[in-house]
Amino acid sequence: MPKERIAIYPGSFDPLTNGHLDIICRASKLFDKLIVGVLHNDAKKCLFTMEERADLISKCIGDMPNVSVQTFNGLLVDFVKKNEGIVIVKGLRAVSDYEYELQMAALNKHIDSNIETIFLMADVQNSFLSSSVVKDVAKHGGDVRGLVPDRIIDDIQSHMKCKL
Ligand code: PNS
Repeated sequence: MPKERIAIYPGSFDPLTNGHLDIICRASKLFDKLIVGVLHNDAKKCLFTMEERADLISKCIGDMPNVSVQTFNGLLVDFVKKNEGIVIVKGLRAVSDYEYELQMAALNKHIDSNIETIFLMADVQNSFLSSSVVKDVAKHGGDVRGLVPDRIIDDIQSHMKCKL
């Protein structure tokens, strides 16, 4: 029997946006299994804990049977190997994402040359969307509808209220 083709979609997901969910949905159709990896980005101070971020993702992937979510502390390539992944999936919104993502892809390839990184272009309607934008809108009492999946709007808004 051929080996399952497992892909990893890593990120901070602080919190998950409609842009992330679109990439998850599209990548899930390209691989046998997609694991969304909630990892630590040293450059970011997150608002939600890793577990909270993973819970928000879990609430949105129920209708995609080959998608699961995990948290991990450590190197992305180690997470990929632990899960027998062959590919890292990343989303690209604009040229501004490219430089950073190119560096990460090259670094991960340097650490383990067997692991490929592939990029899916963000849908144009999500090209302005980021977790930071969502947090900014929510923090100032704005409406995050259309920016994040409907089923996590209340969680995000009530979490923001507690943090204010
Ligand atoms: O959503 P983000 O913050 O752009 O995701 C970045 C993330 C979490 C994928 C990246 O920081 C990462 O891979 N962190 C794990 C530690 C690691 O492997 N660092 C070296 C390669 S970036």
